[in-house]
Amino acid sequence: MEKAIEDESLFALALEAAARAYAPYSRFRVGAALLLEDGSVVTGVNVENRSFGLTNCAERSAIYAAVSSGNRKFAAIAVATPDADYPVSPCGACRQVLSEFMSADTPVVFGPDYARAVHTTVGILYPYDALHELADDDNA
Ligand code: THU
Repeated sequence: MEKAIEDESLFALALEAAARAYAPYSRFRVGAALLLEDGSVVTGVNVENRSFGLTNCAERSAIYAAVSSGNRKFAAIAVATPDADYPVSPCGACRQVLSEFMSADTPVVFGPDYARAVHTTVGILYPYDALHELADDDNA
């Protein structure tokens, strides 16, 4: 997401994904677009459940879909929350999961639309991150 145009087109894919959210309980649709290092994009949406605690956020849906298809290297993530009138940031659980697969300087953009989006990084959203040494990439 070096250039504004890439940033904006990634956000557009997140916004498009939000239309596919399964959010019959909150009526709050969220779409995430994850930019892979090879330039391709994997999207995710929030998937709610009538047992409310089982809800999966859009960010985690995207990351789990990408990892499930063999991708672990991510360059950026955009999160669109079209039902809000202000930028809604990733929840605490999602910040933890973002930090599992993304370095601190990985760009994150979130907002109800691109004009009001906040541009930040994983490290700003999730400071004092630790325990990376526990991952054994060779055996993962
Ligand atoms: N939600 C997300 O999917 N991502 C966020 O960043 C914020 C919250 C979802 C969870 C739930 O389905 C709905 O939005 C309301 O919290």
